Order: sequence, then C-alpha cells, then structure tokens
Amino acid sequence: MSVSFKDWPVNKQFMRILVKPDTWLLNPVTMDMAATRSYVVEGSEKAMVIDTLQEDLDIRGYIEQCVTDKPLVVASTHSHGDHTENNTFFKDCPIYMTEKCWEEIQAMKKNGNIQGWNAPADYTPTIIKDGDVIDLGDRKIECLYFCGCHAESSIVYFDTKYGCVFTGDEFEGGQVLVMRPTGNNCIELYRDNLLELKKKLAGRATCICPAHNGAPIDIAYLDYMIEACEQLMNGAEGSTDPFSMTWGLNPHGWDAKHVCDENTRRFEYKGCSLVYNCKRIFYKDCVEN
Ligand SMILES: [Fe+2]
Repeated sequence: MSVSFKDWPVNKQFMRILVKPDTWLLNPVTMDMAATRSYVVEGSEKAMVIDTLQEDLDIRGYIEQCVTDKPLVVASTHSHGDHTENNTFFKDCPIYMTEKCWEEIQAMKKNGNIQGWNAPADYTPTIIKDGDVIDLGDRKIECLYFCGCHAESSIVYFDTKYGCVFTGDEFEGGQVLVMRPTGNNCIELYRDNLLELKKKLAGRATCICPAHNGAPIDIAYLDYMIEACEQLMNGAEGSTDPFSMTWGLNPHGWDAKHVCDENTRRFEYKGCSLVYNCKRIFYKDCVEN
C-alpha cells in the first residue's frame, strides 16, 4: 500500500546527508533503499539539483527551506520518470538534460502514463552534450556522455571540485539494470562505457553518487564493475533469479517481474551486481534496430 507524505511538514519530507562539503544526498521520507535519491551540489553562485524525483513530496520546498538559498539549476541524469517527473516544479530554473532525454520525456507525455510515470514536459530544457561544463561559481560540473545501457538518454555529471561522480542509474550498489533491449546494448558496451568513463575521470574522482541503494560508493567500485563485466565476457554465468532485496522482492517498490524474461540473469562480483540479458554479452550478439 502506498502512503502519501505530501501533508507532512516540508522539513520532515527528506533527510539530508553530507556526502562531501556542500554536497547533499536527499533521502525521501519513504526511506526505501530502492527509492530514487536526489542530490544538491552547491557552488558559490548557484546550487544544482541532480534529479528531481517522482515522489509525492515537496522537493523544491525542502531544498529552499532546509538546504540552500542559492539560485537553483536542475540536471537530469536520464529521462525515467522517477528522476524527472518533478522537473515541472523547477520550470523557472535552467533544466539541463541530453537531447535524447528531452525526446523521451516528450514521448512519455504523448503516450500517457508509462510505468506509473507522468511526464509533464511543460518546460524548456537546456540541452547538454559530452564535454559541456555547468558553472556553479567556484564549482564546475562536467557533463560526461555515457552510452546508456540502462537508458539511452543517460549522462554522467562530474564535480571537479570534490571528485563526486553522479551516475543516475548507470552505476549503483544494488544492481545496475543493463536492460535496454535495443541497439547494441550489451555487457561489452557497458564495459566499454566504464573504461571510457574511467579515462575521462583520469584519477580525479573520489566517489560515486548513484540514485538508488545508498551512496556514496568508493571509486574503487568502478574497477570492480569493469572486472565483473569481463568475468561475464570470459564465460561466467549469472543466476536465473534476477531479484534482490531492493529489486523485484521489494514490497514497497515497483513490480520488476514484467521486465524480465527467460534470458534475464543476475551476476554478483565483489559487491557489484548486474542484471542483464544473457543473450547480449558481446556487440556481435546484438541485432541493430
Ligand atoms: Fe532509470
């Protein structure tokens, strides 16, 4: 049964945790491990909200009342509604996202409610691409293209001041859902994405800040995940049971079963978990479409 927290006092609707100086993780009051998290990154001139969530909560009110009085900008990691639905409450602010993200949000709006997501595409975003820098004053945020395996619209944000990498759903501690069923999406592509990200970060990153299942994660996890992919590419096999305590079995969460089929597997390695299609390991396994 879902519970509405919208009538709670605004300052009780989230709990904030300091990840790095001037860098806040916002936990929604639902306190579900799998619940989508938001971040606020403060610079000397502006504060950036990374993902505005879908929760029935007053995230803007909380940020303005409890976190920062700086002018706000929004950055979306990818189009999925649990990350972007509340962008509508920031439509007077710059809202950064990839071109693909905006295309997908518009498509969701056109096609109606998808997976419980509504897509109020009632704002004009600022389109970003790989290499762009969002200037918060004394803090610069690099936009790093990540050829999305979870979502085609993904981009990663890198805080050059404290070394935080904001990955959305392309990297997280519960399970990365490498499940985009089209194009060249496969474990080899995901591995190559991680190698490319590692090259772009060039030893500058200190931690990973994902949207689900806890943060921050030590940057060493990036190497572990690359190894996990290579284990699969070398013939390791995942479990036919893809679920975990925060995905598929979560009594408060979204029903994951309908996105699984007989080829869905779960692979765990050094604390990294991948949910993937066992018929899509290499590029050569993928049929272009
Ligand atoms: Fe997602």
